Amino acid sequence: MGSGFFVTGTDTGVGKTLISCALLHAFAAQGKIVIGMKSVVAGSHGGKWLDVDQLIAASTIGAERRDINPYFFDAPVSPHIGAQQAGVDIDLAVIRAAYRKLSIAADIVIVEGAGGFLVPLNRTQTGADLAKALNLPVILVVGMRLGCLNHALLTAQAIRSAGLLLAGWVANGIDPDMLVLQENIATLEQRLDCPLLGMVPFKDGIISQNCTERLNVAELIKFK
Ligand SMILES: Nc1ncnc2c1ncn2[C@@H]1O[C@H](COP(=O)(O)OP(=O)(O)O)[C@@H](O)[C@H]1O
Ligand SMILES: [Mg+2]
Repeated sequence: MGSGFFVTGTDTGVGKTLISCALLHAFAAQGKIVIGMKSVVAGSHGGKWLDVDQLIAASTIGAERRDINPYFFDAPVSPHIGAQQAGVDIDLAVIRAAYRKLSIAADIVIVEGAGGFLVPLNRTQTGADLAKALNLPVILVVGMRLGCLNHALLTAQAIRSAGLLLAGWVANGIDPDMLVLQENIATLEQRLDCPLLGMVPFKDGIISQNCTERLNVAELIKFK
């Protein structure tokens, strides 16, 4: 069995998919067999789920789509509501079984969460329960913008109170006009108490291949 990481973010739209793909490229560059997984996705674009397609493109092996992405919903809404609308109940055991299959085939599985860490998945469970069910070290993508310090610290607290390891964080520059960016990064470096894996600056039309060299995955190899 290979090992895996659970990628969460301070919010939706903060760069989880971009960084997940960049991590896949970075591990692949070290000769690892890698595969991305999107356990739950909500929001299709003309019948396509872009997160899933991007993760597949960044993987070095294929797998059955239903293992790579067990749950997919059309509307861009919270997964628990998307599931309810589709008459589906998100079952963490299904996701865990799919993860197991991927982890048998690959050295590294990168699992991208949906939305933020405590996003509801069904009537009682959240993304935290999913991360716990998979029992993976967590990587936190912080979308650098005003308000991110609070979101990052809250998320780190939630990860740790779920009993999970915060393996590292990534500063992703999603706001080209953010003031005092470096001061914000320094504040989180001091307070998150886990390695900063890298800083990805804002770039229009950014692609994951170009972020790879900014991520220090050597920090993560110890979790293998
Ligand atoms: N550093 C960056 N510079 C410019 N655009 C970015 C950056 N990071 C993410 N984006 C863009 O922001 C959008 C959301 O990113 P994505 O990785 O899909 O976020 P998430 O998976 O957290 O919802 C995408 O269009 C992506 O290309
Ligand atoms: Mg995404």
